Amino acid sequence: MEADIFQQILITGADGMIGSYVDFGVRTNRESLDVTDLESVRAACRKHAPKAIIHLAADVDLNRCEKNPAHTYLVNAVGTYNMALVARECGAKLVYVSTSGVFDGTKKEPYTEEDVPNPLNQYGHSKYLGELAVQSMLDDYLIVRVSWVFGGGAQKDKKFVAKILQQLDQSEISAVSDKHGSPTYAKDAVAGIKRLLAEDKEGIYHMSNAGSATRFDIAQEIVNITKSGAKVVPVKSTDLPSTYISGENEGMSSQVHYMRPWQEALREYIDEEW
Ligand SMILES: NC(=O)c1ccc[n+]([C@@H]2O[C@H](COP(=O)([O-])OP(=O)(O)OC[C@H]3O[C@@H](n4cnc5c(N)ncnc54)[C@H](OP(=O)(O)O)[C@@H]3O)[C@@H](O)[C@H]2O)c1
Repeated sequence: MEADIFQQILITGADGMIGSYVDFGVRTNRESLDVTDLESVRAACRKHAPKAIIHLAADVDLNRCEKNPAHTYLVNAVGTYNMALVARECGAKLVYVSTSGVFDGTKKEPYTEEDVPNPLNQYGHSKYLGELAVQSMLDDYLIVRVSWVFGGGAQKDKKFVAKILQQLDQSEISAVSDKHGSPTYAKDAVAGIKRLLAEDKEGIYHMSNAGSATRFDIAQEIVNITKSGAKVVPVKSTDLPSTYISGENEGMSSQVHYMRPWQEALREYIDEEW
């Protein structure tokens, strides 16, 4: 039964960082399935008759999201609405990958699945609207929140960990030390999603690696793992220009304990994929 469901899963945005670890189901990308095109989404579901859909497609570039909110809401909110509508029509379970960026970061402890979102920027708002569409339209869904994702190797990784790995030949690397998040190895997040599906779970789940860290902590860990001679210099977030507001705390805890500590995951990623 388990093998069956994994063959009958439709994946959107499969060519991205998280999608690169999905080795099952029908993988689609923006060319083969644009999630903003409702009729194409309907046609794909008619053709593949999925039992579940893992919806990864999104605009994740926070700078671009601030500059072009209309496009952000079209892809992240309307695109997710389209997936929810069609999942309902074809009776598929929808797995929507969302973000710790739905929270405002004012909480001192890690965010739990029960905490109420209050996004601060266009990306966070658009992803939260996606969550609301999923929750209001479907009974059988998973909202899986990840945070500060790394993975995909040099080709796909455009985020913080890749940027630090590309600076290791410099004598000094600056990294923000006053904001926390929960780093997430994309490979572990996909394994977590598979397990949620295999166990037929429903509802909201946080799926970051265990523990939380500042960007400074992560950069320092990368330097330790790679034995680079670079010195990591802590800086305040206000010292670096940013086009968007982000909260001080994006750390998350989870109601399931599937995920290993972020340091262990980061070491494996660097050892095996860089
Ligand atoms: N990366 C993070 O730190 C992070 C954190 C929290 C949550 N997430 C969530 O995790 C999910 C996967 O993101 P990721 O990290 O794998 O990002 P990614 O590497 O940018 O992957 C997203 C994929 O979606 C595709 N896409 C964009 N617009 C599309 C459209 N209209 N129709 C179909 N596909 C489209 C992109 O294709 P193109 O490259 O061709 O545009 C890209 O391949 C997203 O829902 C994101 O919000 C990511």
